[in-house]
Amino acid sequence: MAKDLSFSCTECGAAHSKWSGRCEACGAWNSIVEDKPLTAGPKAKSLGGKRGRTIPLTDLATEEAAPPRTRAGVEELDRVLGGGLVAASAILVGGDPGIGKSTLLLQAAARFARNGLKVIYVTGEESTAQVQMRARRLGLDQSPVHLAAETNLRDILTTLEAENPDLVIIDSIQTMWADNVESAPGSVSQVRAAAHQLTTFAKTRNIAVILVGHVTKEGAIAGPRVVEHMVDCVLYFEGERGHQFRILRAVKNRFGPADEIGVFEMTGKGLAEVKNPSALFLSERGTPAPGSVVFAGIEGTRPLLCEIQALVSPAAPGQSRRSVVGWDGGRLNMILAVLESRCGISFTGLDVYLNVAGGLRISEPAADLAVACALVSAREDAALPETCVIFGEISLSGALRPVAQTENRLKEAQKLGFTSAILPVLTKRGGGAGLEMREMRDLAGVIEAVFGI
Ligand code: TYD
Ligand code: MG
Repeated sequence: MAKDLSFSCTECGAAHSKWSGRCEACGAWNSIVEDKPLTAGPKAKSLGGKRGRTIPLTDLATEEAAPPRTRAGVEELDRVLGGGLVAASAILVGGDPGIGKSTLLLQAAARFARNGLKVIYVTGEESTAQVQMRARRLGLDQSPVHLAAETNLRDILTTLEAENPDLVIIDSIQTMWADNVESAPGSVSQVRAAAHQLTTFAKTRNIAVILVGHVTKEGAIAGPRVVEHMVDCVLYFEGERGHQFRILRAVKNRFGPADEIGVFEMTGKGLAEVKNPSALFLSERGTPAPGSVVFAGIEGTRPLLCEIQALVSPAAPGQSRRSVVGWDGGRLNMILAVLESRCGISFTGLDVYLNVAGGLRISEPAADLAVACALVSAREDAALPETCVIFGEISLSGALRPVAQTENRLKEAQKLGFTSAILPVLTKRGGGAGLEMREMRDLAGVIEAVFGI
């Protein structure tokens, strides 16, 4: 008999056979809740379903291979979608509450509607009057977007069936309620059922559907990860509340590259595209200070320069702190270990703080060298030249490894007025003409050349 999996995690959707305080799959605490089953299926002896149809692959028309796309005309959004909106696709837009998802999607809805799509924006959180108020603030109140304030899934699907739109936006999936599932809206079973019905509907009726999902902190409401595997495209809208930058990041995309980002700025009139994110992320940089390094990174297909800041201070006896914002904590510990073992620079007895400026989050190992230089610069209280960019991966032996897209990184640095670059030895020439190139073999060499230790 199949194992009875009647509990699931509201964070990651993993199924469990019993309740426990911590999800073994994702490590979240207090996130496991009991599932309410769907109404039982038929208990007939035969399989019972109706016979479907199979199509030989070779009989499919070739144009079906490349799905048609509609561009929003917002370059930052179209790029993240992989070149525009694909018909009959399901997209999840996740993010913290208040980060600007509704604003982004209302603006996108208006753009798509202007480009000839029939768009229905279903709001389960606000009244139509509230959405209209926001539209007025964004200068979009004359857009041909249809609104519906509804949470009952059956009613929504009936409406969609009758209206036959090209794009539906569901804001948010956690407020939707399927009446054949016995649990409360927002529970894992409800969110799963609603997402499943909406994505199936999208596929069969050739409609694109965008689901909004709030990232949740407490376990009572299922987070967007529960539906990630059901949709074609998963976008996360990120940013720090205190900063005006917002980043839309594709973490999964069946129709385009993942890891692509779009950069926006939250203004009094909604989200504005940021065409030159490097300039924006470096705009807050003051005079050269110890601990500050400019990293030439790549996000998706695009170069992005940003500032990495480190601070080192004496620790209280026996408890040195390691605190990271915008980068991986494990990676920081690795860099500290390499600095200690391979370069003889110890951070014992010191608190270490690392921050990626502007609320950006970096996951590239190419940032290793920039982080190491920021740490040593902070420890030695020695500022780096203002016009130097740094990148390169550090291996455990302390050697520098070349990184992808060196040429793009160098070009971007040059475009923004940088004059020198510290980087791993190039295996292939190209890019960087006009920059003073300091190609290095290992971390110890860089530390010696830059800080003289
Ligand atoms: P919202 O789109 O409601 O966030 P979400 O749907 O992700 O919960 O955006 C909320 C925040 O955005 C709110 O704090 C106000 C701010 N905002 C602006 O700064 N400018 C604007 O033009 C709009 C519409 C919102
Ligand atoms: Mg909202």
